[in-house]
Amino acid sequence: MKIVLGSDHAGFLLKEEIRAYLAGTGHEAADFGTFCENSVDYPDIALPLAEAVAAGNYTLGILICGTGVGMAIAANKHPGIRAALCGDPFTARFAREHNDANVLTLGARVTGPGLALEIVDTFINSIFQGERHRRRLKKIAFMEKRH
Ligand code: RB5
Repeated sequence: MKIVLGSDHAGFLLKEEIRAYLAGTGHEAADFGTFCENSVDYPDIALPLAEAVAAGNYTLGILICGTGVGMAIAANKHPGIRAALCGDPFTARFAREHNDANVLTLGARVTGPGLALEIVDTFINSIFQGERHRRRLKKIAFMEKRH
């Protein structure tokens, strides 16, 4: 699976842990930065990543900031992006199964690394269930087109 990672300074260390974890499970993840703990603005990372996922260059994206909120807000501005802020594996599972979320956002100042890796694992291994959920997602796509 093609996965792409991005973070701001607050999420940098967790991004590094996730990248190492994914490599250990055989997933090669592209890295859109940031590459150190110097302060950066999260939209500058979220928007190119959202563009790349929406264009189909990657199957899933993972964005990390302090709370996960800024990354979710920014990524969801891009048409075709369904970014879900997840703080537990249950939400991560249903974000994929029901919402077909294509971007996971995490809050590095909220969610510890052990839990974050479980959330990542659940997110990438859960599969969209289609059926009635597809109808609901079409309604969201229609809302996007109106704007
Ligand atoms: C950076 O201090 C912080 O505001 C950012 O990482 C994120 O939490 C925003 O939502």
